[in-house]
Order: sequence, then structure tokens, then C-alpha cells
Amino acid sequence: MQKILFVCLGNICRSPLAEGIMLKLISDKNLTLEIDSAGTSNFHAGEKPDNRTVLNAKKHGVDLTRLRARQFSEKDFDDFDAIYVMDKSNMTNVLAHAKNKEQEQKVELFLNTLFPNQNMEVPDPYFGGEEGFEDVFNLIYSTCEKMIEKYS
Ligand code: 4NP
Repeated sequence: MQKILFVCLGNICRSPLAEGIMLKLISDKNLTLEIDSAGTSNFHAGEKPDNRTVLNAKKHGVDLTRLRARQFSEKDFDDFDAIYVMDKSNMTNVLAHAKNKEQEQKVELFLNTLFPNQNMEVPDPYFGGEEGFEDVFNLIYSTCEKMIEKYS
């Protein structure tokens, strides 16, 4: 079974949203994929996702209430086949833990699945307004749909 990890900074907005959307699509399509998410920081470890993210996802039929934030660790390189990061600073922080080329090659920018080779970043909605959460939901949802095709 393929194991996929999503990583952002706090693990309370972008990466838990990707996790929740993937879990829903996987269940809708009866696929077997293992999904988790983590943050490069420990700022929110143990917490539920940001309330604005939870409410926006709920509006779209995605339940995030069971998820809890945790910090990314070196062991994740052993446990996961692919590690999708939301932005370039996440990329730098994750790669700093890689022990070899094989581990480095597991790391990819999340949006490259939807926009190959564009190296685009998922904007961090944390410090912005409500519309930022809606935009991020749509961007992450479209990318997850594409990812499901890739892993089907
Ligand atoms: P995330 O958003 O990386 O998408 O979970 C953030 C959440 C919290 C903070 C920054 C980004 N923070 O600085 O606490």
C-alpha cells in the first residue's frame, strides 16, 4: 500500500485539509492508500485543525474534526513513500532531515501534481481572511483529485 504524507508549517490549515480531502476521496472510490499529515513546526502539536479550516471544509462535506497536529520527524522518511509539501520553506525544512538521495527524492511540492514543473506554492491562509480559506480549499481539492488519478 502506498503511504502519502502531507506537510505544511503548522499542520492546522493546509496539510490536514489535504489529508481530510484525500481520506474522503479514497473512501468514496474504495481505494487503499495510507494518508497522514504533519507540520515542520511544533507550534500547534496536539491541537485540532484551525477552526476556520474545519468550518470551511465542513461546508464542502469534508470532516477534519478527528485530526490532530503533529510535528514532522526524520522517521517519516522511513514510514512514507511520498511526502508532499505545501511551500518552498516546508521543502527546505523537510529536506534538512533527509539522510540520503533516496529520501530527498520522496519530497515534492504538492501543487506540482496539478501544475507539473511550475513549482507553485499553496498560500498560507492562516493570517488572512475567510476568502483565503475558500481559495485554498478549491486549490487543494483539485490537486487531490489529480493525485487520486495518479495513485489509482
Ligand atoms: P499551516 O498554517 O502551515 O497551513 O498549518 C499555519 C498555521 C499556524 C501558523 C503558521 C501557518 N503559525 O505561525 O502559528
